[in-house]
Amino acid sequence: MKKNLHQRGAQAPLVGSKATVKIDKLAVGGAGVARHEGLVVFVPLAAPDDELLVEFTLVKKNFSEARILEIIKPGPARRTPPCPVALVCGGCNWQQISEEEQRRQKEQIVLETIQKFNRGLEFEYLPIQASPRSLRYRNRIQPKYANGRFGFFARNSHEIVAIEDCPITETALTDKFSEVKQWLQSQKKSGLQKLEMYISEDDSVRYGLISEEDDGVGFSQVNRFQNVDLIRTALDWASGEEYRHIWDLYSGAGNFTFPFAERWTSAPITGVELNPKLVKRGQAKSRDSRIQFVESDVESFLKKTKPQSQDLVILDPPRAGASEYIMQALLEARPKKIIYISCHPVSLARDLQWFFKKAQELNIKASLRRVQAFEMFPQTDHVETVVELRVDS
Ligand SMILES: C[S@@+](CC[C@H](N)C(=O)[O-])C[C@H]1O[C@@H](n2cnc3c(N)ncnc32)[C@H](O)[C@@H]1O
Repeated sequence: MKKNLHQRGAQAPLVGSKATVKIDKLAVGGAGVARHEGLVVFVPLAAPDDELLVEFTLVKKNFSEARILEIIKPGPARRTPPCPVALVCGGCNWQQISEEEQRRQKEQIVLETIQKFNRGLEFEYLPIQASPRSLRYRNRIQPKYANGRFGFFARNSHEIVAIEDCPITETALTDKFSEVKQWLQSQKKSGLQKLEMYISEDDSVRYGLISEEDDGVGFSQVNRFQNVDLIRTALDWASGEEYRHIWDLYSGAGNFTFPFAERWTSAPITGVELNPKLVKRGQAKSRDSRIQFVESDVESFLKKTKPQSQDLVILDPPRAGASEYIMQALLEARPKKIIYISCHPVSLARDLQWFFKKAQELNIKASLRRVQAFEMFPQTDHVETVVELRVDS
């Protein structure tokens, strides 16, 4: 039987020592997972089934980390990355893996993570939804500039990897790189400059410096091609019911709010969002008094306002997920449906655990009706997941 702990009696490897390992699979966070004398080894930039000569960079009681010194035998899905700086740039960590295998690994990671936190929980697991584009999909990026170098931070470093292009970014943005570099040079500012470049809703390209005080435009879905399918899925999974009220928690500027208001034409819809810039943008776009945006932290909002049993809740939190309070408050409110859109499998699995733990405590029948992973961020380990939750009223 495989054990997480280092085999009893086996000598722990020293940092700097070498070993040959075979990668079993990829983990949340993107590293390859191997075992060396029973000890789990995480190897960044690996591909499944790679046989590697590695050097240990960190050794703990239950796991270790190592870097690749030599690829002894590449796994079948290993490929030459499409981007020439992929192995040093901190932006993408899965370019060395075929896109089909990236999707297979994400599908597996989401399933295993939900199951690990929720033993015995049954649900329909749909095949991962591929992205219409695997390259040239990003419409918002945050490049850096210092001492004439324009690019992204190197992996685990604040060194800038100079770039002429970025193959995951839409050409409308990459075509502007030389203009942006000239603009930066003309500013004659010293030290590190952080920028944001994005394609705005009217399709024009915007760019500017960002700082601690001004952190840019705020959240928007970076893959607009796949966002269409994400919205369609959320709408389809909520369909077949009428709702008294729709609550779009973590609404941003209304990515889900507006399509839901269009599909359910009589229910009032409230977006709850912390970032005032996004609230203002949502409010400015709204032409219908049924649609409201409230500037608030979701947990504080739910302490004052409770959804009811005839309502729909859309929940799209940041990577940290929702919270124990939010999941339990939603369970107790017993809305007709909850559509949870997640950008981190671990926080999703933990939130589900809180939800079903409370359901058990209160003897309320709740179910995880279906789950589907979405490829929103090809060439990276990041994955989006949509789930449908139901509570018996
Ligand atoms: C994953 S984004 C989703 C936004 C939107 N649903 C969309 O699809 O564009 C999460 C959003 O939650 C907001 N947010 C973060 N923490 C929050 C909190 N505690 N309460 C309310 N909103 C929060 C962020 O500003 C961000 O807009």
